Amino acid sequence: MIETFQSYIAGEWVAGSDITIDENPSDLDSPVGKFGVVDAQRTLDAVGAAQKAQPTWAATTPQRRADVLDAIGSEILARKAELGRLLAMEEGKSLSESIGEAARAGQIFKFFAGEALRIPGEWLASTRPGVGIEITREPVGVVGIIAPWNFPLAIPAWKIAPALAYGNTVVFKPAEAVPGCAWALAEIISRAGLPQGAFNLVIGSGRTVGQAILDAPGLDALSFTGSVATGNQLLRSAAQRGLKIQLEMGGKNPLIVLADADLDNAVQCAVNGAYFSTGQRCTASSRLIVESAVHDEFVERLQQKLASLKVGPALAEDTDIGPVASQQQFEQDLAYIQIGKDEGATLLWGGEQLDPGPRGYYLQPALFAAEPGHRIATEEIFGPVACVMPADGYDHALALANDTEFGLCAGICTTSLKHATHFKRHAQVGMAMVNLPTAGVDPHVAFGGRKGSSYGAREQGRYAAEFYTTVKTAYTAA
Ligand code: UN1
Repeated sequence: MIETFQSYIAGEWVAGSDITIDENPSDLDSPVGKFGVVDAQRTLDAVGAAQKAQPTWAATTPQRRADVLDAIGSEILARKAELGRLLAMEEGKSLSESIGEAARAGQIFKFFAGEALRIPGEWLASTRPGVGIEITREPVGVVGIIAPWNFPLAIPAWKIAPALAYGNTVVFKPAEAVPGCAWALAEIISRAGLPQGAFNLVIGSGRTVGQAILDAPGLDALSFTGSVATGNQLLRSAAQRGLKIQLEMGGKNPLIVLADADLDNAVQCAVNGAYFSTGQRCTASSRLIVESAVHDEFVERLQQKLASLKVGPALAEDTDIGPVASQQQFEQDLAYIQIGKDEGATLLWGGEQLDPGPRGYYLQPALFAAEPGHRIATEEIFGPVACVMPADGYDHALALANDTEFGLCAGICTTSLKHATHFKRHAQVGMAMVNLPTAGVDPHVAFGGRKGSSYGAREQGRYAAEFYTTVKTAYTAA
């Protein structure tokens, strides 16, 4: 029996219409399930239910909120193998990466269970005699959450968990490519003891459901992770209606390799950062900037490593790199590989469509020698495609690294304390990595970028409070 993933509105499961196949990118002949979409009216119902539930949820004790989040986290962790399997089938990342992501989602709920008990405030004496000032944090209200397909459990978790921890209610729209993971998460949340309507899942397109969330008068804040184009459109609409908004968008993250680096580790960082999760991470290292003295050796070792990686079905045990997640993304990757060739970049390795057995979106990881101005070296591709370029020393490498409209993450491989320290201070990014891949971040610390990558408050860790609460300053004359 093939499962039909449903939406969850005001405490009820809603089948929706236009029942569509939920595709398995590793095997197009064995779909994951089916799903229906809801319309604008149902989306407005979800926002209405969240609005109604919000005062009740905000009035629960921090201990109660902690218990609910902890129960969700515990169940996700206990079922990480099963949830990871669903994620691997639906999104295409390898089974071990998928189970790791499920575990991360569970840990995030546990972290914010603790945060619900630690909502901070301040007391200060006034400049006026006999007056005291309290600064407290209150929930924002109803939060809309629009999440992408590339981390279908972890990204929803790092938005939903803080939203609920701080007393907000939620309307969550997942990407249409991953309704199964969204449904599995919602099913767990639906049994955790939230008031009816406090959490809602609305499956549907950005054009209909996303737009309806944005237009709903009851919406108080919107957290979005996705493309630059959609993010900028949302930002303009949010500005028009004065909506609090947080955007996580693209990246074109550099990884610098200096001549003094441990080259084995540098190759490992490049492979992991550029190609794991099939390169489909906004934190992916898509620009490898290598000091000339070690450039050729680095490229040779990287090619050797790429030749040893197995591209295959997400669930196969020996798979290092799963398929591309969708036909649309697959076409985008192939188009960029063609653009790279056409603009004169040299394809050093890979870039071929593969056929490991089942019908799916299999792509050999691609490595280009590119120039800084090439489109493949400046635009986010969001696939297993990276560029390598030489640099004449550290200063040149840093200049190349910062020469981008993005600013999410940047990495450096070096054994020089001087360069590592300088880099951490001068990389124009939200996250800097030393001797580590640019992708793969911890769940309990601030996440986000600068420039065209992000807008608004940081996500995750204690910094999530900035977005999911509003500050009140109360004066009392004794
Ligand atoms: C990671 O690199 O561990 O969409 C997380 C993305 C990011 C998450 C990256 N928001 O790829």
